[in-house]
Amino acid sequence: EIKGIIFDLDGVICSTDEYHYQAWKKMADHDGIYFDRKINERLRGVSRAASLEIILEKADKQYSDEEKLALMTKKNDLYKELLSAMTEADVSKEVLDTLKELRAKGLKLAIGSSSQNTKLILSRIGLLDFFDGISDGTIISQSKPNPEVFIKAAGILQLKNENCFVVEDAEAGIDAAVAGGFHSIGIGSASSYEKAEHKINSFREIINLV
Ligand code: G6P
Ligand code: MG
Repeated sequence: EIKGIIFDLDGVICSTDEYHYQAWKKMADHDGIYFDRKINERLRGVSRAASLEIILEKADKQYSDEEKLALMTKKNDLYKELLSAMTEADVSKEVLDTLKELRAKGLKLAIGSSSQNTKLILSRIGLLDFFDGISDGTIISQSKPNPEVFIKAAGILQLKNENCFVVEDAEAGIDAAVAGGFHSIGIGSASSYEKAEHKINSFREIINLV
């Protein structure tokens, strides 16, 4: 029985996955590092530091820890510049209506995101006070595919993992859900991932699964 739903943020609730791509792309271009949308797919759900390591696979020099920190700071500054233009209009009516409908059905709703910018994004889109729990990159020590972020979310909701859905656009996120014993729903980039228990093409389909 499903009693709660844990939503990934970037690429599920709002399209910040595109802003992540644009910010990494600008950083990589500036440093002459090859980067494209195919490589970007590997960054979904992955922490900032792990994302940089994937991008640097294409670099032709070694970067020191100090230089890596500078690159991550540069990317995050560019990313936050893009976030500053976000408003409530960056959540679709479909997502908002569906969230309200799920809430009205008595389900507990949480965010489970690796992002350290989670609360900033939720406040920009007017959803900071909407969810029953927020588990994010500021309270975890291991990023997806480790299930820690979802386990903490279920803990905040006071629900068993097996009574929760995890909604994810990242393969790493589906892997994390499976590893934690959650039921999983793949959407967007994860909508054809074989490990996703349910696969949906639009957010409102979640209603049919609860
Ligand atoms: C999410 C995104 C990743 C991002 C990570 C860390 O999981 O899907 O692409 O790298 O959050 O985000 P942050 O905002 O902390 O850099
Ligand atoms: Mg995502």
